[in-house]
Amino acid sequence: MLRSKPDQMCGITGYVGDRPGVRTVIDMLRRLEYRGYDSAGVAVATRGDEASGLAGGGDIEIVKAAGKLAVLEGELHDYWDKYGAAIGHTRWATHGGPTTPNAHPHYSNDGRIALIHNGIIENFQELRGELQAGGFRFTSETDTEVMVHLVERAYRQNGDMEQAIRDALTHVTGAYSIVVVSAHEPDTLYAAKTASPLIVGLGDGENFLASDIPAVLPYTRRVVVLEDGDFVTVTKTGMCLTTLAGQPVTREPFTVTWDEQTAEKGGFPHFMLKEIYEQPRAIADTLRGRISPEETVILPELEAFSQKQLGAFTRVQIVACGTAYHAGMVAKRFWEHLLRRPVDVSVASEFRYGDPLVGPDTLCLVVSQSGETADTLAALREARRLGATIVSVVNVVGSSIARESDAVVYTQAGPEICVASTKAYVTQVVALYMIGLHLAFVEERLSQDALKVYVRDLTALPDAVESVLGGALLVEDLASRLAERTTFFYLGRGYDYAVSLEAALKLKEISYLHAEAYAAGEMKHGPLALVEPGVVVICFATEPRLFDKMLSNIKEVSARGGTVVAIVPEGETRADAAADEILRIPAVRTEFSPVVSVVPLQLLAYLIARARGCEIDQPRNLAKSVTVE
Ligand code: AGP
Repeated sequence: MLRSKPDQMCGITGYVGDRPGVRTVIDMLRRLEYRGYDSAGVAVATRGDEASGLAGGGDIEIVKAAGKLAVLEGELHDYWDKYGAAIGHTRWATHGGPTTPNAHPHYSNDGRIALIHNGIIENFQELRGELQAGGFRFTSETDTEVMVHLVERAYRQNGDMEQAIRDALTHVTGAYSIVVVSAHEPDTLYAAKTASPLIVGLGDGENFLASDIPAVLPYTRRVVVLEDGDFVTVTKTGMCLTTLAGQPVTREPFTVTWDEQTAEKGGFPHFMLKEIYEQPRAIADTLRGRISPEETVILPELEAFSQKQLGAFTRVQIVACGTAYHAGMVAKRFWEHLLRRPVDVSVASEFRYGDPLVGPDTLCLVVSQSGETADTLAALREARRLGATIVSVVNVVGSSIARESDAVVYTQAGPEICVASTKAYVTQVVALYMIGLHLAFVEERLSQDALKVYVRDLTALPDAVESVLGGALLVEDLASRLAERTTFFYLGRGYDYAVSLEAALKLKEISYLHAEAYAAGEMKHGPLALVEPGVVVICFATEPRLFDKMLSNIKEVSARGGTVVAIVPEGETRADAAADEILRIPAVRTEFSPVVSVVPLQLLAYLIARARGCEIDQPRNLAKSVTVE
């Protein structure tokens, strides 16, 4: 059964009880490693308890390191058996590279408060300036660090740790889950949740906090899932749950019945399905902090490009591989419409061995989820050698492509584990939309009013994708009827052609079936010869201006016995008679339809592959990041 579940990016753990705190939170972090991260850290409230043989006490001790947990563990020699309340964190970098100073926990200037965080603080730049003006010293580039200094500032004023955290959070806008430990209250953990998942594990004389259920399963299966706006105080004997304002809240614990492997996928059977369901949140996170109150696009990463500089670019060259290339195909249409310049899209492996017309007049856009794809990195270097300016859209902070770009716009999809890309694709497309809108606005090709309309349509996308996911059972039913077919065509025109490329790749790479995307208008120039009974033809018909043309394609396929699955906007019924199957998607702005219309086909690919008993998350012959040529 398909289900919807929240996602999470970083790994958060907390422990209070009679076990060694550092050893426990590290063990909990190990159970969250599957999610991918680039740095880690722990903090423990020591209290000089002779029984535990602690030296000193009444302080917070923090150890953190870039890299994997093994690196951190190598630094913990003196800390393994520290017994106080402890917190642990694995970071997936969003603001600031994967370095030790940027690793969590972050700590107060007096060293007596430590904080870990999952999410994005939208107003961190403003808060950072305010705190620095107030004399607070910063040691990292992260958005997170502003929160621990806000807590210290409030604590200096009221001397109450719980109230200080509540006060601090009233200044913060964005998505966060935090856990705080302090030397002032060495036997207590404080946590708050707004958007990123956080749970409490209820033990016997001990309690746990974590960003995901697998972390607590070896210790307890009784879990309370916190909801947005919850604030919880946890000691070894219990928890006190309220709203951020202090109103009592009741949440019933439930007993987790999943095995540990299922729990790693948030209850989904595969990472691919989990990541498909994370897309609304991933899109929202990619937009987060990049839409101004005036409904313009904010991309500080591109501020270096003045109107004059942008005007010097006579053409745009997009280079990428696979799914990232398909995202570039969407951008081509959108950017040419907005920027009125030639936008070429090349697969990186072709670009790098060609004789590309690239020079100082070229803006080269490099798209890559991993930021490590060998062909794409080589194409970037070739474009730079030819004098182009490099802007990249990357998901992994600090990756090679990111480091070698003149500017990077990060997608905020979070770690994508499944080899078949889903949430990375939709966030790449959204990031490319935002860059195009920003450049057009800077060049005064787009009025503020026109930009507002685009921005409103962009911000409607998470809900539109959520709505498609709500109808997943219809796709499940369709998949059961198509699972035995062996030949699939994916047809579209305009933006629908661009998305058909991605939809076809999904089926190919996880179900090992032949699936070919084609410009619908090209069918009569040859491929129509392949259509016969049994052949499935997925027809994207979301673009009103081209609907009649697509309807003709549907009829020509149907007349030759092909099985037509039509993807149409809600309310569109003119294809119902000619098509064998209809999948309706929410009517969104035409240019933005790929973000929505791809989702039912991601699900279809997944469901057919599952019905065929394919591996899904790790398909044969493929790797998540192709770092070799
Ligand atoms: C897509 O599902 C595949 N995983 C593959 O095509 C991928 O998009 C391609 O290898 C590019 O990877 P990148 O985005 O990490 O550069």
